[in-house]
Amino acid sequence: MTKEILGLVGSPRKNGNCEIFIKEISTHFDFAHNLKLIRLPELNIMPCSACYGCIMGNPCPNKDHMERLLETIVKADGLIVATPVYYFGAHSIFKRILDRGFLFYNYLNETYGKPCILLNFYGIKDRIGVSPQTLMVFAYSLGLDIKASVNIEAALPGEVLFNETNKEKAKELARILFSDKKIENSFGCPFCGCEIVRIIEEGFICTVCHGYFKIDRNGRRIKIKEGGIIGPPEHMFLHRDWLKEMKQRFLKVKKQIVKSISPLKDKGEWIRFD
Ligand SMILES: Cc1cc2nc3c(=O)[nH]c(=O)nc-3n(C[C@H](O)[C@H](O)[C@H](O)COP(=O)(O)O)c2cc1C
Repeated sequence: MTKEILGLVGSPRKNGNCEIFIKEISTHFDFAHNLKLIRLPELNIMPCSACYGCIMGNPCPNKDHMERLLETIVKADGLIVATPVYYFGAHSIFKRILDRGFLFYNYLNETYGKPCILLNFYGIKDRIGVSPQTLMVFAYSLGLDIKASVNIEAALPGEVLFNETNKEKAKELARILFSDKKIENSFGCPFCGCEIVRIIEEGFICTVCHGYFKIDRNGRRIKIKEGGIIGPPEHMFLHRDWLKEMKQRFLKVKKQIVKSISPLKDKGEWIRFD
C-alpha cells in the first residue's frame, strides 16, 4: 500500500535545507509513497487564548489552520519534521503550534505511534542552541515515535547536499522511518534522548521528559527517576484530567482571586499599537 509521508517544513526559505533534505530522504524510500509537504511558517496559527475550552470539550475559539494541520498529521503514515535554527532555537512556528497543544489531546489516539524523523539545520558550528528540544516536545506531545533526532550543519540554502556524509545520512533515515530501529543519542537523557538538560545540584533534569539522572565517575548516565510526562495516550490524558480539575479549582476560588487582585486591576497604562 502506498504510504503517505508528511514533510513539515519549518523554514520559510524556498529550496532551503529543511525542504531539500526532506525531499532527499524521500528519494531513498524503497516503497510506494506520496510525499506531501507543508511550509509551516505560511500557516495562520493564532496564539492560544488560554480559555481551556478545548480541555472542557468545547470548540477552539481561534479559527485558523491549527485543526487542519492536525487532521493532516492524522492522515500521514510517517512524518519528517525539519526546522532551521533561528537564534539558538527552532523556528517560532513550532512554539506557536505547541502553545495550542491542548488541542493535541483531541487527536492523540490517532497520532500516537506514528513514526517520525526530526531534523535541525544550523548555519554556524556549535550554535544550535535548544532547537532539538522544541522538535522533541512537539513530537512527544503528539505521541509520535521518534526514530531519529538529527542536527545538521548547513548554512546556505540547499547546501546540505554538498556533503556526502549528509547524503548517506538521508539514506539511513529513509531506511529507519518504518523499521523497528531507532538512532539513539548515546549522550542525551537516558530516558528520552534529549540532549538539553537543566542542571540541578546533584544531577540533571531533562527538559523534555523531565526524567532525573546523574552521571557517574565513569561518565555513565544513571537513571534516578522518570519524569512521568511521556507515555501512551491513557497516560497523557491523565494530564488533561488534571487540567480539567484546575478549571474547577479556579471556579471555586474565583471570588477570592477577584478580591485579592482588585487593588492592582487598574494600575498602569496599557500601550496598544493599531
Ligand atoms: C534569522 C536567522 C537566525 C539564525 N540563527 C542561527 C543560529 O542561532 N544558529 C545557527 O547555527 N544558525 C542560525 N541561522 C542559520 C540557519 O539556521 C541556517 O541557514 C539553516 O540552514 C536554515 O535552514 P533553511 O535553509 O531550511 O532555511 C539563522 C538564520 C536566520 C535567517
